[in-house]
Amino acid sequence: MSQKIALVTGGTGGLGTAICRSLADDGFRVVAGYNSGGNHDKAKAWQEEQKKDGYDIDVAYGDVTNAESCAQCIATVEELTGGTVDILINNAGITRDGQFKKMSWEQWDEVLTANLDSMFHMTRLVINGMVDKGWGRVINISSVNAQKGQFGQCNYSAAKAGIHGFTKALAQEVARKGVTVNTVSPGYIKTAMVAKIAQEIQDQICAGIPVGRFGTPEEIGRMCAFLSDNQSGYITGADMSVNGGLHMS
Ligand code: CAA
Repeated sequence: MSQKIALVTGGTGGLGTAICRSLADDGFRVVAGYNSGGNHDKAKAWQEEQKKDGYDIDVAYGDVTNAESCAQCIATVEELTGGTVDILINNAGITRDGQFKKMSWEQWDEVLTANLDSMFHMTRLVINGMVDKGWGRVINISSVNAQKGQFGQCNYSAAKAGIHGFTKALAQEVARKGVTVNTVSPGYIKTAMVAKIAQEIQDQICAGIPVGRFGTPEEIGRMCAFLSDNQSGYITGADMSVNGGLHMS
């Protein structure tokens, strides 16, 4: 079997890096999509870091909120790899937390655009290629806070819950074509996104996690690699919780 090509959006971030590495460990050709506010040097430095650790991962610029930029990102992936995307991990996402009574339209719009519209832009560009090949994996990163809601996250919980609706609908459309579409819902994982929460609130949240700790990015990476495996073809439309028992559905 030829080497499958995986694109991880937000690939140079906390979760993204671990996802890229897990997929590389499993023999996939990996490209990390990045935005980094257009800071290409930062992405190149990230790539060098990976190289030092023995990971050969390409990088491709793309702003997931912008359709044209997404198309450019896919074109770059095809140029770099000489093939088309077999595995798309829609991982890029942001938070703009705050109570709804004080939330601005900008806080709502930025989160919905980056976390949900991005699903349309990126997936639309690769899905037909997967269907034509008769093999593909789309893995959408949602959140425990889509499943249970979270004080201060009306925007994020709505966007992330929307992701799973998208997953289930698309999964049905492409199931007979060898393409699976799944959601991964991480709990609180040790990343910069979680580190931004006030320490006191982090401690409260951690106290409510049955496993007794925050998760590691590698634990999300393994789930993505598992779903990408050729032998995972019977799993589709699923929402895989990786949350230390914080929410059991
Ligand atoms: N339930 C009920 N009331 C709560 C509450 C909760 N969970 N948390 C806070 N409150 C109350 C406080 O008791 C306080 O009440 P009083 O005013 O009556 O004393 C009030 O809310 C505080 O409100 P403020 O708006 O003044 O608080 P703030 O502006 O300092 O902070 C917040 C608001 C930013 C939303 C903060 O509560 C917070 O950071 N919460 C955590 C949000 C969170 O979990 N984000 C996840 C980010 S990581 C991620 O998203 C990854 C992933 O997928 C899991």
